[in-house]
Amino acid sequence: MSEIVYAREPGLSVEDYVSVVSETTLGPTRPLRNRERIAEMLANANIIVTAREDGRCVGLARGLTDFAWVCFLGDLAVREEMQGRGVGTALMRTLREVLGERVAISLNAASEAVSYYDHVGPKLGLAPNPHDYYWPRTIGVDG
Ligand SMILES: CC(C)(COP(=O)(O)OP(=O)(O)OC[C@H]1O[C@@H](n2cnc3c(N)ncnc32)[C@H](O)[C@@H]1OP(=O)(O)O)[C@@H](O)C(=O)NCCC(=O)NCCS
Repeated sequence: MSEIVYAREPGLSVEDYVSVVSETTLGPTRPLRNRERIAEMLANANIIVTAREDGRCVGLARGLTDFAWVCFLGDLAVREEMQGRGVGTALMRTLREVLGERVAISLNAASEAVSYYDHVGPKLGLAPNPHDYYWPRTIGVDG
C-alpha cells in the first residue's frame, strides 16, 4: 500500500473532481454532467485539499473561507474503494492545519454522512450546531 499524500491543491481539475465525486454517494447530488458549473465551483472555491495515492486523486475537500474567521466546507469525498482507511479524517485534519485555529469550519452534512460526522466528531472537536440554517438552491444538479 503506497503512502497517501495530502496537500492543498488550488488547481484541482474538473476531471479529478468528477472522477472522485462520481465514485461516492455525493455523485448524484452534484452537477457532474455540467463541466462549466463544476469548473466554476473549483475556480471560486479558495481552499481545496486533496489526497493522492501514486499521483491518483482518491479524495478531496473543497471549501470557501476568509482564512480569518470561518470556512464553509462544500464537499468532502473519498472514492468508495478507499473509504474506511482514514482518508476522510486526514483530509479534515489537513484542512484544519491549513486554516489554523482561528477559523471555524461549518458544513451541511449529506444525510448519508451524518453517522460519519457523529463518529469522528468527538475526535476532531466537531459537533452538530442546532442554530444553523440552510437556504436551498432552486436550480439543482440539472441546471
Ligand atoms: C464520509 C467520507 C468522506 C468518510 O471518509 P472515509 O475516508 O471513509 O472516513 P475515515 O476512514 O476517515 O473514517 C474515520 C472513522 O469513521 C468511521 N466511518 C466512516 N464512514 C462512516 C459512516 N458512514 N458512519 C459511521 N462511521 C463511519 C470509520 O469506520 C472510521 O472509524 P474509526 O476511526 O473508529 O476506525 C466518505 O465515506 C465519503 O466520501 N462518503 C460519501 C460522500 C459524503 O457523504 N461526504 C460527506 C458530505 S457532507
